[in-house]
Amino acid sequence: MNANTVNSAFESRFSTAPDITVRAPGRINLIGEHTDYNGGFVLPAAIDKAIWLAAGKRADGRFAFYALDLDDYFLSDDVGTVFQEQHKWANYLLGVISEARKDGLLIGGLNVVFGGDVPLGAGLSSSAALESGTMFVLNELYQLGLSRMDIVRLAQRGENNFVGMKCGIMDMFASVISRENTVVRLDCRSLEYAYFPFDAPGFSLVLCDSGVKHTLVDSEYNTRRAECEEGVAVLKKYDSGISSLRDVSPALLKKHEQMLRPVVFRRCKYVVEEIARVELACAALQRNDFATLGQLMFQTHDGLNLEYEVSVPEINFLVETARNNPAVLGARMMGGGFGGCTINLVKTEALEDFIQTTSVSYATKFGITLKTYPVKLTAGTSVIK
Ligand code: GLA
Repeated sequence: MNANTVNSAFESRFSTAPDITVRAPGRINLIGEHTDYNGGFVLPAAIDKAIWLAAGKRADGRFAFYALDLDDYFLSDDVGTVFQEQHKWANYLLGVISEARKDGLLIGGLNVVFGGDVPLGAGLSSSAALESGTMFVLNELYQLGLSRMDIVRLAQRGENNFVGMKCGIMDMFASVISRENTVVRLDCRSLEYAYFPFDAPGFSLVLCDSGVKHTLVDSEYNTRRAECEEGVAVLKKYDSGISSLRDVSPALLKKHEQMLRPVVFRRCKYVVEEIARVELACAALQRNDFATLGQLMFQTHDGLNLEYEVSVPEINFLVETARNNPAVLGARMMGGGFGGCTINLVKTEALEDFIQTTSVSYATKFGITLKTYPVKLTAGTSVIK
């Protein structure tokens, strides 16, 4: 799949060339999990797996979308009314249109053909890529004058308000704002960000796809958010300056442990420690200290598994297999949880061997063929010439 594929599919469906073709990448997150909606830091990057959108204006105000990989077509009514669709995938495009309209942005009709190679349900944010890619296309075609950050926020609102998943800002941010060969640290409270070169000769990032689809993620995700909010509501009584877990120090949390439900304490402890780990990871990256970075990744995994409780046996097995492999510096569950991928920092010289032995162990234990994706860090959403 690439730009040419969506362009020719567009031409055959709409009998004209697209006005624009856009690449909207998936993302990894090096460290900083479940911190975005707690006002903390994340350290994601866009990757060399993407969704391509070929798009053109329509004079009649309708929306016509063709999902190439699913071979499924959606056509709105003749005035472009936007409402929740049976075709779940169409909601990702309609959601951003709905939110943009709330802001009074003038959007006319639209034809889109899209497809890509971001594996679905693997935690690589194919939906965020599609949402922000759609908003990016609209901004270009209808000259809406939006900044990249405006696009990110509209895409997140589409997911929150239309699709109904209360996700944070990380996925859309990573898809839109990333630069090649860098990770980007976002302060999810102030929305300030800084690029960190990921210059790691001799080391590779590889994802191991557990093949377990994270179906639980929506409900459990929203529950985790609520537990964090409960923690903030209690801790606020002791310090009125607290408005998110970002404002909570480990010492303050410990001091008021007895006032929190044990489960809420565990969730808060993980988040507070994870926010601090992102800063340690950035400092390690600046020193090219990959050993420390790797250790921090393992610590994140332990917190996600034992305190935040969003891992599953398959993912734990992959992380333990990695931990026992001397060529692996760090590994952890990545993304929302309950399946998806692990991210592994591996010595390149031993990469093939790591993939081979992990695949064999995984197949033996779970009877699942492991998919592995070595990733390159790429630029964010862009127009393809
Ligand atoms: C999902 C959400 C993100 C983020 C991660 C966990 O990917 O969409 O906003 O919260 O989970 O870090």
